[in-house]
Amino acid sequence: MSTKYELKDLATGKTSTLEARGGTLGPQVLDIAPIVKDHGVFTFDPGFMATASTESRITYIDGDAGVLLYRGYPVEQLAEKSSFVEVAYLLIYGSLPSKAQLEAFRNSITRHTMVNEHLLRFFQGFRYDAHPMAMVSAVVASMAAFYHDSTDINEPRHREIFAHRIVAKLPTIAAAAYKHLLAQPFVYPRNDLRYCSNILNMFFAVPCEPYSIDPIAAEALDLLLILHADHEQNASTSTVRLAGSTGANPYAAISAGVSALWGPAHGGANEAVLDMLESIGSVANIDAFLARVKDKRDHVRLMGFGHRVYKNFDPRAKIIRAMCYRVLEKFGHAETPLFELALRLEEIALKDEYFVSRKLYPNVDFYSGIIYSALGIPRSMFTVMFAIARTAGWVAHWQEMVSDPHMRIGRPRQLYTGPTQRDYVPLDRR
Ligand code: CMC
Repeated sequence: MSTKYELKDLATGKTSTLEARGGTLGPQVLDIAPIVKDHGVFTFDPGFMATASTESRITYIDGDAGVLLYRGYPVEQLAEKSSFVEVAYLLIYGSLPSKAQLEAFRNSITRHTMVNEHLLRFFQGFRYDAHPMAMVSAVVASMAAFYHDSTDINEPRHREIFAHRIVAKLPTIAAAAYKHLLAQPFVYPRNDLRYCSNILNMFFAVPCEPYSIDPIAAEALDLLLILHADHEQNASTSTVRLAGSTGANPYAAISAGVSALWGPAHGGANEAVLDMLESIGSVANIDAFLARVKDKRDHVRLMGFGHRVYKNFDPRAKIIRAMCYRVLEKFGHAETPLFELALRLEEIALKDEYFVSRKLYPNVDFYSGIIYSALGIPRSMFTVMFAIARTAGWVAHWQEMVSDPHMRIGRPRQLYTGPTQRDYVPLDRR
């Protein structure tokens, strides 16, 4: 289905016809390419508030209805019935795997978990207090210097090997960053363990005593990874696409995504939420804190609230809140007061005119940090956990873009407001 619009230059009377294209779901998008040709003007949309940057078949969000679909499947169903590895397959290949396909994929991911030993030595060069996101971003970029056998982006099998490698190795790199923080020996991946159990083992095992993996911890981690696996054209995914559109080495493109994810407006929010809850301290201080949030001069935001797309509720937040209760019951006595504070803060904010009128609701990261914390994962690692999950989505989007024969370099235009041309003035006359 397509709708036609007419654009008229009121000064000259010149018109052009613009066509709005419909997808399978969601609003139509207006193809504005003729505007430049017919009228010589660009469109202006800072922050991509109204611009679809690409066509995609991977993830669909209806922000008003609180719907999130991966390849058409509601995230609630995947959270309840699937596993992160199966969801990664779904995102990358486009459909749910058969039993044999899932086994083959799981096997390949498991057997790609080790990283080149030289790569591990990079961690020795980082300061003891390096932020893990800085380490992960740097080490992922440096994978481009190691895996030369599969970087022909025009070769489908190369793209597939890259996809498996990065999904498999991200947890190993994350665990190495974590062990560096603790100054503990690195723990190698174990091929007899499932994806999330292996992560827990690499994070928490030590050579001097046995470590037993708690099934609820593995289940909670799997759930969080499913919920964070993809979110259509968010800032980090768009960054991966933009970097990848130049034909850059795919590891470099993923590293760009890791860096974009780090910011507190995006993946860094889960870390910022716990900092915020701790700084509020107790229920008695909520009102004073919210007064600061509402005072624009203060530049304080209610972290874990609001979303560019969700203007009703974030379906991921609902699922996570339920898991919070289970995890805290099992492990989290220390985090229980923070959870209670978060629940109260949510309740108060949801009745407050400031948040109601701006359609600000808790997002996935209002609660994810509480679960990570209860699992024993430190705050500075929260965004790294998000990166492990989002790698599946980044890879799916990179593959989709690169396998499109019409791929073009991403190159936005600008509204220039700097000085007009002026002549260079020698230093002695300035
Ligand atoms: N606390 C207080 N005010 C807020 C918040 C917040 N968390 N979020 C938005 N607003 C206000 C904002 O000040 C503005 O008010 P006004 O119209 O009076 O100027 C209005 O709501 C619209 O905000 P915006 O910044 O134009 O909205 P956006 O779509 O550009 O930003 C956001 C979306 C997620 C960056 C923002 O809501 C935010 O900073 N939230 C806190 C950080 C956070 O939790 N991020 C995680 C997002 S979910 C995980 C992920 O996908 O990365």
